Amino acid sequence: MNENPIGFFDSGVGGTSVWKEVVQLLPHEHTIYLADSKHAPYGRKPKEEIIQLCVKNTEFLLERGCKLIAIPCNTATTNAIAYLRSHYDVPFIGIEPAIKPAALQSDSKKIGILATQGTLSSELFNQTQQEFARDVESIEVVGTGIVELIESGQRNSPEMVELLQSICQPFMTSGIDFLVLGCSHYPYIKEHLQVILPENVRIIDSGAAVARQTLSILKQHQLLNPNQQPGSHQLYSNLQIQVLEELTSTVQHREVALADF
Ligand code: DGL
Repeated sequence: MNENPIGFFDSGVGGTSVWKEVVQLLPHEHTIYLADSKHAPYGRKPKEEIIQLCVKNTEFLLERGCKLIAIPCNTATTNAIAYLRSHYDVPFIGIEPAIKPAALQSDSKKIGILATQGTLSSELFNQTQQEFARDVESIEVVGTGIVELIESGQRNSPEMVELLQSICQPFMTSGIDFLVLGCSHYPYIKEHLQVILPENVRIIDSGAAVARQTLSILKQHQLLNPNQQPGSHQLYSNLQIQVLEELTSTVQHREVALADF
C-alpha cells in the first residue's frame, strides 16, 4: 500500500499548482492527477452535480489503487469533501481559501477573496469565514471567466489582462492588504494580479499548506513511501493534453495522457 500513488483531481489544470508543491515536498511519492477539464468550470454548477463529478473522479483514482486522495480544488472541497469522507475509507485532503493567515496578518483588517461562485456560496467557506475572519472586512469577488481562459491556454493573453483589470476593480480602492486566491487555477495568474493590484497587497494561496497537510496525513496513517527513488507521475486530462503538458513541463518523471473519466 505504501508504494501506491497519491491521487489528485481538479476541475481541470489549475490543481497542478498545488500538485507541484506536493511533488516538491514529497519527491519519493508516486502520483496520479486527473484534470476533469471536460466538466470545467465546476464553480458555476449546483452542489449535487459537483458531488457527482467528485464521486466519478474518486472512483477512477481508487480503481488505480490510490492510498490517499488530495483535492486541489476549492470548489470541490467546499462542496463535496464531507460527502466523500462519509462514503469512502481512504483519507481525503482538501483545499480551502487561506482566509485564516490573511485575517491574522492583515494590518488594514480588510482582505480580498477571489474565488468561484461555488466556493463563496458554500457552507464550509462561510463557516471558515465566521470562524477566522469575523474581525476583518472581506471583499469577495467571483473570478468569472478566469478558469475558462486558463483551461484554453490563454493565461497570458491580452484578454486575461483585460478581464483581470475589470474583475479587480472592487479591490483597488477598498484598502485591502491581502488578496486570498481561493481557486487553485489562480496561482497561474498571480503575476498579472501583482501588476494590477496596489503594490502593498500581498497575494496568498493554499498550495504549500496542502503539501504540508499531505505529509502530515501520510505520516499519521503510516503511508509514506519508504523507497528513495524519485516518484513517477501520471497526469490525465479528459479533454486535451496540451495545457496540462505545458503547465507541468518542469516536473520530471511525468507522463501526460488523455483518458476517459
Ligand atoms: N480550480 C477550482 C477551484 O479551486 C475550480 C475552478 C472551477 O472549475 O470553477 O475552485
